[in-house]
Amino acid sequence: MSTTGAAPAPILTEAELRLLQALIYQECGMHFDERRTHFLQDRLVRRLRERRADSFYAYYRLLISPAGKEELAKLLENLTVNETSFFRHKAQLDLFQKNVLEEVLRHKSARREYSIRVWSAGCSTGQEAYTLAMLVADSLAYYYLRHPVPVEMPLPKPLVPPPWRVEILASDISYAVLRAGQEGAYSEQQMATVDYGYRLRYFDKVGERYAIKKNLKELVHFDFHNLKTEYLPQRNDVIFCRNVMMYFDEAEQKRLIEKFYRCLNPLGYLFVGHAESLLGLTEKFQMVHKDSATAYKRIEVRE
Ligand SMILES: C[S@@+](CC[C@H](N)C(=O)[O-])C[C@H]1O[C@@H](n2cnc3c(N)ncnc32)[C@H](O)[C@@H]1O
Repeated sequence: MSTTGAAPAPILTEAELRLLQALIYQECGMHFDERRTHFLQDRLVRRLRERRADSFYAYYRLLISPAGKEELAKLLENLTVNETSFFRHKAQLDLFQKNVLEEVLRHKSARREYSIRVWSAGCSTGQEAYTLAMLVADSLAYYYLRHPVPVEMPLPKPLVPPPWRVEILASDISYAVLRAGQEGAYSEQQMATVDYGYRLRYFDKVGERYAIKKNLKELVHFDFHNLKTEYLPQRNDVIFCRNVMMYFDEAEQKRLIEKFYRCLNPLGYLFVGHAESLLGLTEKFQMVHKDSATAYKRIEVRE
């Protein structure tokens, strides 16, 4: 590696591009077709400059060496699209809160299983996971009002009424976004889609930013999970994986859906992005459609 100043931006040859695409696909399932080649080149150039690598091959050798694990993670981090917002796609969240959650709560209380687990897979900077936490907390409080469980209520009244337990798992492949999510402090601009009621109940104003209140934050657990790997978090009642699958090719999408099937509890639900669909990719989920929103319910196969 040279220590000279910024080299002119290298343009990858076909062979180099293919090598890089294959490595990325193998590592995280992201597929870069011709439409995204420019983006890939641009991000690669940034990493080459940062590392002061004088050739693609020197950099590639680093990526595939044991010493290059950290750099590989950095490169992948640079390739992910992290766009997200609070309360993204309202119709789908209504379907989640008014139909899916109600059903899950009914089903669970009939079995005296007072726990709910929701997974935001590909959570970016945490807005989706915290949105889900707010919706679950509100739904549970309302459900509890109608169906109280005779258990002594501690004071001050907790966000989640006992004996219920709520766990929202938020995972991503990028450590940078996981750190931001864990911090849980958002700018006015990021708060644009959060109405006053939610701001008042679930945020504290800290300087210029809105910080997630401690009791809500405690429900959300951030962790690194690469959706390409086989071992993913199990026993979820609901999985949200929105605007992630769109970066995978069809083979990888099918594999991921199969894994999600196994990661869900019986009768669990999967939500994908508004521009994504399970159509033609699986027969193990039943589509549930309401207004302009869709969810996918796990179909139970008889042994
Ligand atoms: C566009 S954001 C979507 C955020 C959120 N789900 C939403 O819809 O608002 C996509 C996220 O998926 C993550 N991602 C991409 N590939 C991944 C993988 N193989 N494993 C885990 N996360 C991945 C990215 O790092 C990024 O934060």
